[in-house]
Amino acid sequence: MSSPDRCAVIGNPVQHSLSPVIHAAFARQCEVDLEYSAILAPLDGFEVCVSEFFEAGGVGLNITVPFKEQAYRWVTERDAYASVAGAVNTIVRSSGGYLGCNTDGLGLLRDLEHNLGVPLDGRRLLVLGAGGAVRGILGPLLGANPAELVIANRTPARAEVLVERLEDPRLTFASLESLQPGYDVIINGTSAGLDGGRPALDAELFGKAFAYDMVYGENSRPYLEFATAQGASATSDGLGMLVEQAAEAFLLWFGIRPDTAPVLGLLRNRE
Ligand code: ATR
Repeated sequence: MSSPDRCAVIGNPVQHSLSPVIHAAFARQCEVDLEYSAILAPLDGFEVCVSEFFEAGGVGLNITVPFKEQAYRWVTERDAYASVAGAVNTIVRSSGGYLGCNTDGLGLLRDLEHNLGVPLDGRRLLVLGAGGAVRGILGPLLGANPAELVIANRTPARAEVLVERLEDPRLTFASLESLQPGYDVIINGTSAGLDGGRPALDAELFGKAFAYDMVYGENSRPYLEFATAQGASATSDGLGMLVEQAAEAFLLWFGIRPDTAPVLGLLRNRE
């Protein structure tokens, strides 16, 4: 009998990652013999961990906090989304070495447009935050053909840097205080929820917008509850994005895109 294909997520911390559960479910569904583990890399030991994993025959890796930028530097080639993001969340072996990809933005698009039925084409989009998480989604969001994409950040200069780098006429930046209503979709990409908070926003901002948080569960509550109270038409946390970015990674490694709906249902039932 041949041994299973080995994949893993590398992070620090990593013990709460849902990736092993998600990929185990994908593997069962797609009949792939997969052993997927979570690897806790020391903060100064990312490169050693990755090299050892692949030298031992590993097929592919997911990269999570805080190593996505290091992964970007470690790989030998990068896909277009990783290049825009300056960050890699998936590594796959390529003929010449290691291809670094970023599937976060595709995961977000798929969740919004396909799972939640929120159209982006021709719409006005607002993204809150300008850190690593937001860098990963800008390329795919622009690819969805919005009429406008505004990045608003507590520190506007960080948003300005992103806008200058991407050079797209539909992309502008703003301070949180200067925002006016009129957006169709408002995506929280800040890390404020991790401390139980949310970005400070004007109560009028939401109108009938769809409010999305890129994090899931408890950490998304402060923002989503505020959005609901201010009249947002509907809301969602980022659990679907997590499952969809994983499906994109599975596709890269095994050439099969799993059906995400049953896996998302499984995770919702665990909440
Ligand atoms: P990540 O990789 O999660 O994006 P990051 O690069 O540290 O982490 O970026 C965190 C983002 O959340 C930043 O945009 C940060 O705003 P600043 O650039 O002004 O620091 C934003 N953020 C964190 N806490 C916030 C809060 N309480 N209110 C508003 N924005 C916040």
